[in-house]
Formats: sequence, C-alpha cells, structure tokens
Amino acid sequence: MKVNGQPYRSIWLKPDDPTVVQIIDQRHLPHRFVIEDLRTAEQTAAAIRDMHVRGAPLIGAAAAYGMYLAALNAPQESADAFKDAVFRAAHLLGETRPTAVNLAWAIERMLAAEDRPAEDFDEKIASLRREAEALADDEVGACRQIGEHGVKLIEEVSKRKEGRPVNILTHCNAGWLACVDYGTATAPIYAAHDAGIPVHVWVDETRPRNQGARLTAWELGQHGVHHTVVVDNAGGHLMQHGMVDLVLVGSDRNTRSGDVANKVGTYLKALAAKDNQVPFYVALPSSTIDWELRDGLKEIPIEVRDSGEVKTIQGLHDGEVKSVLLTPETSPAANYAFDVTPARLVSGLITERGICEASEQSITALFPEKG
Ligand code: MRU
Repeated sequence: MKVNGQPYRSIWLKPDDPTVVQIIDQRHLPHRFVIEDLRTAEQTAAAIRDMHVRGAPLIGAAAAYGMYLAALNAPQESADAFKDAVFRAAHLLGETRPTAVNLAWAIERMLAAEDRPAEDFDEKIASLRREAEALADDEVGACRQIGEHGVKLIEEVSKRKEGRPVNILTHCNAGWLACVDYGTATAPIYAAHDAGIPVHVWVDETRPRNQGARLTAWELGQHGVHHTVVVDNAGGHLMQHGMVDLVLVGSDRNTRSGDVANKVGTYLKALAAKDNQVPFYVALPSSTIDWELRDGLKEIPIEVRDSGEVKTIQGLHDGEVKSVLLTPETSPAANYAFDVTPARLVSGLITERGICEASEQSITALFPEKG
C-alpha cells in the first residue's frame, strides 16, 4: 500500500543491503513514520515481543526474516553449530507471543527450509532468504485474494442500498500494517474503494494499545477511505440503530471448527452483531488456521500482557509522543490481549480460496488437503 504516495510493505529486505531487514516501527504511528533496521534474530524477537511489528501475518513474516538473520549470523565451523544457532533462534522467536498461530507456522516452514540439503553455508543462507521472501509474497497474494473474494459481500450490500455508503465496523488493526500488504479485514474495503463503491468504516479505537485509533485510522486515511473512530463500547449502539451493515475483523488463530481468536473485544462485537442481525465476517489467510485445534475456548492460548498498557495511554503533546497515567498509581490492572469468538457467532470466513461458513465441514471443503 502507499504512504504519502510511496509504495510500502510493512517488512522488507534493505534494497542495497540484504543483511538488513527493515520494518515500519508501528509504536510511533500515526504521529511519526519510523523505519527500523533489524540485523539479528534477537532484535527481531524484541520487535515482535514489544510490538514494533504486530498482527498475526506480519508476526509470521517477521519470524521468517528473523530465522534468515539467524542463519546469516550463525557460526560456520560445523553444520551442527550452524543448525544449533538456527534452532536457538527458532526457540527465541517462538517464545515472543503465544496467540497468533502464524508465528509457529512460519518457524516450522523456515526449519523445513533449513533442513533441505545445500552445497554450502552460503547456499543454505540463500535458501532461507528465498523462503522468507516467498513466505512474505505468499501472504501478500493471500491478502489480495481475500480482497477479491470479500469485495463481493460489500458489492451486495451496496446494491441493496442503491449506492449509499456501506457502513463497515472493524476492530483492532487487520490492515496492511498487520500483514505484509493489503491486510485481511481491510483488503475487501480497499478493493471496494478502488472499485468506486462508497464505503464508510467505523474504526474501534481498540484499547489498550489503540491499534484502531492509531493504525487503522492512519492507513485508511492514507488510502482516502472515509472512516470514523469510535470508542470500543459504541459498536452495539451503532448496530442497534442500523448504522452498521457489516462487521469485518481479522484473526490471530482460528480452529479447524471455525472458532476465532482475535483482539480482545471482538467477541462482544460478535454478540452485538448476532443480536442485531448484522453479518459478522472474519478475514484470514489459511496460515492463521490451527488445524490441530477444535475447541477455541479451551485450546487457544490467550496472551496476557503488562498491566502498564492498561494503566497508561500514549499520545502526541507539544510535538512529542508522551505516555500518561490514566489510573490511580496503586490500582491493579489486568491486560488480556485476545478473546475467542465461538463459530456460532460468525457469519462466514473470508480466505484466500473464497468464503466459507465457520464450520469444520465448510472449512475443509475449501481446504480438502486438511480434511
Ligand atoms: O496485539 P496485536 O496488535 O498483534 O493484535 C492484532 C489483531 O488482533 C489482529 O486483528 C489480527 O492479528 C489479525 S491481523 C491481520
């Protein structure tokens, strides 16, 4: 997608130095556009853990590039020493955040690439670079296809509304900043906008890190998409008053039966959507489906992050991004980062292969190789 007219992905290899991975450090958005250089797997793990990069598909892509950096910096006195270094990086990266399944999926894919025979260390490093870049390209392709399938849902509503704007509510940031490009929940929105279909997006602020108010609002603004930021608790009221035609969200981990783990608050939006007969769609690449799991509530690990994220808030003041304390200093706070929306509340899943119901039968019909 574009930033001030310039095409960008959220992660890439430095054009004139492929030993450097570059990212948009999302902690500084929307007020500052900062590009960060990553040279080691350790720096990449910190960037994932501390959310310089975030969003399930991007976490996966970053881990893949981190594995490539580990190979670049690995000792070459023996094949075992090299492999040990890559495996240590896999463990370090794998420990960064527990909910987004793309992390384990990407690490597994890179370890399989590391296992492939190679002439020498240079060839091994080159094949890991190719694999990381192929993984990023695959995610871009999947998101573009999600856009192509999902735009049909928006077109249908637009026809029914005789061209009046289609009001879409989204939660957190499931945009190109959370992927490598295009986004998941945002891909159909960008496709509709680019096709001239009038859309308007209600953007949940998404406390406590405000990915909606900071990141989704920024990227929609960059693309000229009409949007309004709302507090997280406004969605139910908007739906009761017919101001939402469609809810589009992303996912961090789906079960093979259709349960969805996404940013905390998603479940409450699904309940409100069900109560008001508003279609609730989840957009995700198949890299976000955990084919081992069936019961999301029992089996999906939910990240609990530092309480400081709840007790404070960041914003621009006098040209500087500052953090201020919201709560009484001594009040404890709890910070559950995700929740699980049961399949029964999901109208459908938008994947790179098309739209299906949130059921094992319908999902495996689309992905028969996983049946
Ligand atoms: O904590 P975050 O910002 O990584 O949470 C991100 C989300 O919940 C997204 O909705 C999800 O990862 C899908 S991104 C396409």
